[in-house]
Formats: sequence, structure tokens, C-alpha cells
Amino acid sequence: MLAWFDVSGRHDLPWQHPRSPYRVWLSEIMLQQTQVKTAAPYFERFVAALPTLRDLAAAPLDDVLALWSGLGYYARARNLHAAAKRCVELHDGDLPRDLDALTALPGIGRSTAAAIASQAWGERCAILDGNVKRVLTRYHGIDGYPGLPAVEKKLWSLAEDHVARAELPPLRMADYTQAQMDLGATLCTRADPACVLCPMQDDCVARREGRVADLPTPKPG
Ligand code: ADE
Repeated sequence: MLAWFDVSGRHDLPWQHPRSPYRVWLSEIMLQQTQVKTAAPYFERFVAALPTLRDLAAAPLDDVLALWSGLGYYARARNLHAAAKRCVELHDGDLPRDLDALTALPGIGRSTAAAIASQAWGERCAILDGNVKRVLTRYHGIDGYPGLPAVEKKLWSLAEDHVARAELPPLRMADYTQAQMDLGATLCTRADPACVLCPMQDDCVARREGRVADLPTPKPG
């Protein structure tokens, strides 16, 4: 994964240079429902206007919503603003490093908390966003719609196993997280995946069994 990432992963995303907890958090919230290509210019504009978490917390909500204008899903912007205020009140103006404290903030679920902690501080924790769900259902040949609680539970357990077993040199946890997302976004795509380019192809159950097009199982109904 890391060897593939070094050659073919995305290394020039705006939130990677410079990388800070605030910038990683903002990018992860934007990327929850928006593609990288669309989010990037909004990200640049947002951090130019509000370069720090304290600037965000101090800004009027209307300014934050104006910066979000065009991205949609405005609850994300409201939550971002509320979370920034809470970080000023409770965490001395910084994002908390602890996963439970991150998850307690508005707009941050389990996978987003893990994406932030791994990319901002190199914490060893598993993510499970839509891209990673697709990679794991194919790699392990997992049947069942990934939105079902039982399937999601199984996928979290597999995601945790991978992180626990991965041989990661020091300081490569952020790259490992990014590699998983990049693999899902650029190779293991929903339609027309590029299996011949995939570093995991030899061990992928869906590929071996000719089920790549059938996984993940679509939503029932
Ligand atoms: N989707 C969610 N987080 C992402 C990231 N850091 N890079 C690319 N796509 C993402």
C-alpha cells in the first residue's frame, strides 16, 4: 500500500501543505460529501479568510456560511462553527487529540475522527468511509449492503485488523490512511475499477471470484 502510495497516491492536496490539525479537520468535513476536485478551491478560500481555529470560532456564522456557499450540506458549516467554539471553550483553542473527545464534537463521527487523528498526529487508528468500505468489501468478498449495522460492524473489525497488522514505519500512519482513501477514490472505483493497477490485486477475493462488479452489495429495495 505505502509503496503504491509513494508512486501513485495524492501528495499535493492543499490540506497536506502545510498539514495542521485545523486544516486536516476542515478538509475532512468538506470531503464528507464533496469530491476532492470540487472541495480544493473552497478549502483555499476558507483558510485564506479564516486561517486558524480561533479565527473560525470568532467569525460570525453568516461569514462561515458565505464561505461554504456552493458546497451544499450547510449543516456541515454550522457544525464546524459550533465545534470551533467548543474547542476554544474546552480545549484551549486546539482540536483534541483524543478520539472520544474528537467524536464528541459536532459533525465528527467515528471515521472522520480517525481520519483527523491519523493525518494530524499520526495516531494509529482505522478509518471507514465510503471509499474504504468499497475496498474492504471487495478485498475480503463481504456480501450485504455496507449500510446494514451487521455488515458495517464486520467492516470496522476488518479495518481495525488491517491497521493493527500493517507494518508501518514510524511517521507513516497519515500516509497509510491517505493511501486507503486514494486507492478507493482512484483505482477501486464503483464503476470500472482499475484492478490491473491495484497493489492488492493478488489477494483480492472479489477479483479472484469475478465479483468485483457485484460488490459492494447495493442498497436493498
Ligand atoms: N475523502 C475523505 N477524506 C479524504 C482525503 N483525505 N483525501 C481524499 N479523499 C478523501
